[in-house]
Amino acid sequence: MKKAFIVANWKMNPVTFKEAENLFVSVNKGIKKDKGIEVIICPPFVYLNFLKKNQKGEKGKIRLGAQNCSSQEKGALTGEISPVMLKKIGCEYVILGHFERRKYFSETDEGINKKIKLVLKNGLKPILCINEILQIKKDLKGISKKEIGKILVAYEPAWAIGTGKACDYTQAKKFNLLIKKVLGKKHPTLYGGSINAQNALGYIQKSEFSGLLIGGISLKPKEFIKTVELFYNK
Ligand code: 13P
Repeated sequence: MKKAFIVANWKMNPVTFKEAENLFVSVNKGIKKDKGIEVIICPPFVYLNFLKKNQKGEKGKIRLGAQNCSSQEKGALTGEISPVMLKKIGCEYVILGHFERRKYFSETDEGINKKIKLVLKNGLKPILCINEILQIKKDLKGISKKEIGKILVAYEPAWAIGTGKACDYTQAKKFNLLIKKVLGKKHPTLYGGSINAQNALGYIQKSEFSGLLIGGISLKPKEFIKTVELFYNK
């Protein structure tokens, strides 16, 4: 099996530092460094710096990602977080275009496109979430082939997010092939939406994705670790 990307999107959880620390420490202790996996945890912004320092001697086992960022590097933009700041604190990835941001924060393809360009410019890797195939071309407009190669594209059907109704493998594979038709056969793609330890492996083995974007169970260390363990290169 090729290396699988396992991305944990904590969304706006947990609400205390202590809980965030406990969750991170449990996962960090519970997983091993393995060639078969790249584990990326995307916590709320306020925990990023703290968790980076919390890795102590375990450097490299877990990579950190943000869940969003500004489309500008700096300036009078109250409440925004710059990709420059994220890079400086050791963040490697940024989730962009998540369905929840498109829906609840009115993010547009044009805005997402700007953010992707700035994230790439700052040496971070975007994890672009899409739920419709037409979003790809709009979100990646004006970006070179080489730069596109650095982007993980995640298919998250809106109806599968947080509902317990995961997409079936055949349908997920169909969408995956549509992405690959646009970006090339080898382009790394992720599936997200109601993943659990029971259904996770199928998205790699049957639907041919390169990894998973996990919400709910990324907050449950036991189940998350169990899911990660499925991908160890034994
Ligand atoms: P769930 O795993 O809770 O369905 O969330 C998926 C998701 O939105 C990950 O970004």
